[in-house]
Amino acid sequence: MARRSSKADPSGQRRHGPRDAARGILPDFQGREADIARIEKLLDHVGDGGKALLISGEAGIGKTTLLEFAQVFARQRGFRVLYMSGVIAEAHLPFAALQQAVGPILRQAEKLPQRQHAALLAAFGLGDDTTVPDTFLVALATLTLLTESAVRKPILLVADDIQWLDQPSHDVLSFISRRLSSDPIVLLMAARSDSEEAFPHWSVPRHQLSRLDAAAAERLLDAESPDLPLDLRQRFLDVAAGNPLALVELPRGERKPETGESHWVPLTDRLERAFFSRVSVLPTATRALLLIIAENDSRSIREVLDAGEVLLHEKVALETLAPAASARLIEIAAGEVRFRHPLVRSAIHQASSPVMRHNIHAALSRVIIDEPDRRIWHRMASAVGPDEALAAELDAAAARSQRRGALATAITAL
Ligand SMILES: Nc1ncnc2c1ncn2[C@@H]1O[C@H](COP(=O)(O)OP(=O)(O)OP(=O)(O)O)[C@@H](O)[C@H]1O
Ligand SMILES: [Mg+2]
Repeated sequence: MARRSSKADPSGQRRHGPRDAARGILPDFQGREADIARIEKLLDHVGDGGKALLISGEAGIGKTTLLEFAQVFARQRGFRVLYMSGVIAEAHLPFAALQQAVGPILRQAEKLPQRQHAALLAAFGLGDDTTVPDTFLVALATLTLLTESAVRKPILLVADDIQWLDQPSHDVLSFISRRLSSDPIVLLMAARSDSEEAFPHWSVPRHQLSRLDAAAAERLLDAESPDLPLDLRQRFLDVAAGNPLALVELPRGERKPETGESHWVPLTDRLERAFFSRVSVLPTATRALLLIIAENDSRSIREVLDAGEVLLHEKVALETLAPAASARLIEIAAGEVRFRHPLVRSAIHQASSPVMRHNIHAALSRVIIDEPDRRIWHRMASAVGPDEALAAELDAAAARSQRRGALATAITAL
């Protein structure tokens, strides 16, 4: 079994500067030089006026990590750091996120004009006023408070997961983001890239976090899991596709090499949650088609739609897939469909029940006409017990693939 050692610095980077600071926070931190440089530049030029930046990227790509670095870099430069984060469970609580950020400087609100002060207190459930506060007044009060405070110390306002902000906090942040030009305030936000339609009117510059390149991905996996067998290491690299969360989490998943499911890489709960969350909100028929795409061994849209009709007993059209395409889970082109990230496929597979998977394979075996080997494979995957006729067909399929030299297919089928 091949083993890899790792804790050295194979990148050969000089060990000082921002990368070094990043490593101090997260020892196995890899890549991201350009992303860090962009954030440092924002902080270093805060004297030229306020700026806002929205960092976007897929689940687990490293948005929160980058925001954490930004907070450390900002404190090193003498900034006051204010922080809020959208939380699904609090998305229905008005001003919950804003209170998190403004809480530490709320005492200074006493100097605000009286109506703004009262609105802010009412927003946070403080003071005597029990009427619903005017969001515009709260936004104005927050902006005044920030700009007054920034006179003494520049401010970094961090807002993570803004796709899950409660609506009033979202509106206040949007208001502030357009009015930062003359004050030493940096507003750094992060959102999942599939949620960007939630901010159609935001004119803030965006910074897309890309997947780690192959070398950085390898360094991260080797640092986290130095003892992986080479074949497993390669599978993790393939499935992770440069996603740091996956590179950290995949080796922690339960391994079941002895089961018939061994071609699927098991995901930890954290990974499954991260990549399945967008699926769970889709319409039932769309989810059924996604399950079919996940279990199918071809990219044909025709097959997916045909199998969908068998499975759902109703007419299914390409539009049924539209919500999944809008959520950026899949890509459709030239009669083919594929997941944008292999982890979505794994998460969908893992979240489905064995009975559902059986039904999907049965549906696929009914719609695949011209490829007997594939049809038999799906029939096999849908069989619930021993079936002599199926076993004979399987022998024939294995012999056929052997004749074609496709030994691997034969072995898998047997
Ligand atoms: N460049 C990197 N090098 C090494 N590890 C990283 C890197 N970026 C992120 N990680 C690790 O990957 C994991 C996921 O990162 P993070 O939580 O920042 O992702 P995220 O984009 O905020 O995800 P989500 O969309 O779920 O909020 C964390 O464990 C983090 O430590
Ligand atoms: Mg995050």
